[in-house]
Amino acid sequence: MKQFLDLEDIPNINTIISDAISLKKEPFSFEYLGKNKTIGLLFFNSSLRTRMSTQKAAQNLGMNTMIMNLNADVWGLEFEDGTVMNAGTAEHIKEAAAVISQYVDIIALRAFPSLTDKEKDLEETVIKSFQKYASVPVVNMESATAHPLQALADAVTIAEFQQKKKPKVVLSWAPHPRALPHAVPNSFAKMMQLIEVDFVITHPEGYELNPEITKNTPIIYNQDEALKDADFVYVKNWSSFKNYGQIDCTDQNWMMTLEKLGNAKFMHCLPVRRNVVVTDEVLNSSQSIVIEQANNRTWSAQVVLKHILENL
Ligand code: CP
Repeated sequence: MKQFLDLEDIPNINTIISDAISLKKEPFSFEYLGKNKTIGLLFFNSSLRTRMSTQKAAQNLGMNTMIMNLNADVWGLEFEDGTVMNAGTAEHIKEAAAVISQYVDIIALRAFPSLTDKEKDLEETVIKSFQKYASVPVVNMESATAHPLQALADAVTIAEFQQKKKPKVVLSWAPHPRALPHAVPNSFAKMMQLIEVDFVITHPEGYELNPEITKNTPIIYNQDEALKDADFVYVKNWSSFKNYGQIDCTDQNWMMTLEKLGNAKFMHCLPVRRNVVVTDEVLNSSQSIVIEQANNRTWSAQVVLKHILENL
C-alpha cells in the first residue's frame, strides 16, 4: 500500500481485516518497522478517537509522531492555483505540503467538507492537494467524503462479533441538531459492499446518500421494516446530500431505542449525542459495542500504517 486515501487502496479487504485482528493480539510485533520514521498527524477539525488511536498505532509500530492543528497553529493555507494571495491565506499548499514532506515520512490528514460547496467537497480538494504536492504517502483520517479508517474498524468489529456467516447489517439514519458530513455512512456503505453481509440502508425519504456510493444497496424508508431480523444496527446522522448540507428532517421517531434494536448489536462511530441519536438504555446495554468498535480504530490504523511502512 503506497497511500490510504480510500478503501480502494486496500489490496484485499479480508486479508487486512484478519491482519488487524492479529495486530490486536500482538501490538508490538512490528515495532522495528517504524524505527527512525515519523508520521505527521494533521487536523483541520476536532477529534478524539482518530487522533489518539492513530498516534497509538504509529507508536506501536515504533514511529515518532508530530501532531498539528492546522486551523489553529499554522498559516492559513491556500488551495486554489493562480490566486492573488492578498486576503486571508498566507501559504500555498504547494509549499506547505512539500515542506511538511521533508519533516515526516507519512502525512495523515483530517479535513471535513464545507457542506456548502458540493462540487469542491466531492472533488476532495484538500486531501487531493496534499497528495499532489506531498512527496510522502498520505493517509485519510476523514476527508470530505470518506472515513476509511473508521469503516475498516467497523468491519473488524463485525468480524469479531458476527455469529453467522452472512449477518444482516442495517445502516439507520438518526436525527441530529447539527448538519453532519456523509463521510462515515459513505465509507460504511462501501465497506459493507465489500464484505459478506446482507446490507440495507434506512432513512427518511430525501436523505439518500450519493447514489454512486450506495449503488444497488436496498434502501427501505420504513425503519421498522428495515430493522427486522438485524444482527448489527449502525446508527448515524448525516445531512441531506440532495439538498446539500441541509437539515430537512428532525423527526425524533428515528432515534434508536432498545425496542427497535431487537436482538441486534448497536454500532456507532462516536461521538454520539445521547437521547437524540440513541437512548441511554441502548448505550448502557450489553448490546452496545461502541467501545469495542472505538478500540478497533487503533488496529485499523496500525494495519494501514504497517502496510505503508513496508512499502516506503
Ligand atoms: N469516530 C471518529 O472519527 O471519532 P473522532 O472524530 O473523535 O476522531
